[in-house]
Amino acid sequence: MSNRMWGGRFASSPNAIMQEINASIDFDKRLYSQDIAGSIAHANMLAKTGIISNDDNLAIQKGLEAISKEIEQNKFTFSTELEDIHMNIENRLAELIGEPAKRLHTARSRNDQVATDFKLYMRQSADMLIEQISDLQSALIIRAKENANTIMPGFTHLQSAQPVTFGHHLLAYVEMLDRDKSRLKDARTRMNECPLGSAALAGTSFPIDREMTAKELGFSRPTANSLDAVSDRDFVLETLGAASICAMHLSRFAEELVIWSSAQFKFVQLSDQFSTGSSIMPQKRNPDAAELIRAKIGRIMGAHTSLMIVMKGLPLAYSKDMQEDKQVAFDALDNLSLALAAMAGMVADLTVNKQAMNDAAGIGFSTATDIADWLVREANVPFRDAHHITGQAVALAEKKQIKLEEISLKDFQKIDKRIDDRIFSILSVKNSVASRTSYGGTAPNNILAQVKTWQKKLDNK
Ligand code: ARG
Repeated sequence: MSNRMWGGRFASSPNAIMQEINASIDFDKRLYSQDIAGSIAHANMLAKTGIISNDDNLAIQKGLEAISKEIEQNKFTFSTELEDIHMNIENRLAELIGEPAKRLHTARSRNDQVATDFKLYMRQSADMLIEQISDLQSALIIRAKENANTIMPGFTHLQSAQPVTFGHHLLAYVEMLDRDKSRLKDARTRMNECPLGSAALAGTSFPIDREMTAKELGFSRPTANSLDAVSDRDFVLETLGAASICAMHLSRFAEELVIWSSAQFKFVQLSDQFSTGSSIMPQKRNPDAAELIRAKIGRIMGAHTSLMIVMKGLPLAYSKDMQEDKQVAFDALDNLSLALAAMAGMVADLTVNKQAMNDAAGIGFSTATDIADWLVREANVPFRDAHHITGQAVALAEKKQIKLEEISLKDFQKIDKRIDDRIFSILSVKNSVASRTSYGGTAPNNILAQVKTWQKKLDNK
């Protein structure tokens, strides 16, 4: 028997392998609610414009509602022969209501249907991710407030650079996540055009009302070019691009958690809820969640690359290649969502070892820049010279294996006469961070002010 939906010109049914490569139902059944919403809007419009009768529309609406329930209650039988979610639903509709179901596909095609369904899905995904990013930001802000005064080493090249506050470090991620959010929001503004009614590629001869379907589905307007509308997957690519950058940020933070939770650093301890043990080494507490978050960028960026390559070189308009857009996108966005949730959980739960952070903050002559700054400020030494003088102090401390604050005044003055005993007051890590009050700097007061600003922003989002 030939295919029920499009088999008019075919004498036999497709080969089993053909069916296997062609069918997308196993993964696009996820689009069922968007597909039903699209059909509801389309049928309402067909009735309003007089293309189908009100009675037919009524039957269609009832049937679609019943199908929605069947799917939600796991009573719907999905069939590979019917290829995809669009034909599975339409076929079931015919089983339920007969004749009127066959009128639903008037003035549309699966090409505009799938573009509409997937865009609706992406809009919802972007909205959900934006919410989740806000949740993670909130978790970070709470910990930043608690740790506005917690001093830790700041690194460049992963070498001790200058002391910073842990709150400052956490707020750095709040900034990154905010850019991630704004990229998703920006992508979202370009997802406001509805492809439905573009039909196969050329539009339709029926007097449809595309404004009406666009509005009913929550779009701002219909797409303006039918060829573009059925062949566009920018909305998926943009979302995956923004998702990749966000995943990259999470990966960097996850890596820091892995480093910080090691026995050598001990800056933080991840909670039991977000750690695992080793089956052979009883002492181990492994940061598996952080490691997996660190790795998620692989599949998320992979999805973006994969779809870019699928789309590259495709002639207008729709090609079946585009069916390869869904699995990778679903997988990538599911995993970003999971990573965001896991990261928010870890941040809320982790124990901060303030002592270990503070002790480490002083290692590696991290207040050397403060000496140079002092020379500039108090003795009017040009910064380059001050840098050189400080370098000599560091060399001396290194040779004597002592901290900078343990250098005697006599030794300091041997290096440069202009140094006096006021130098000692700036050598502690506490004074160092407190002095960094420039806008965006690490001083505890700055952090508390930033926390306030962020709390307000997130409350008013
Ligand atoms: N399952 C298809 C997809 O995901 C739907 C569109 C099919 N259109 C067609 N003309 N075969 O892209």
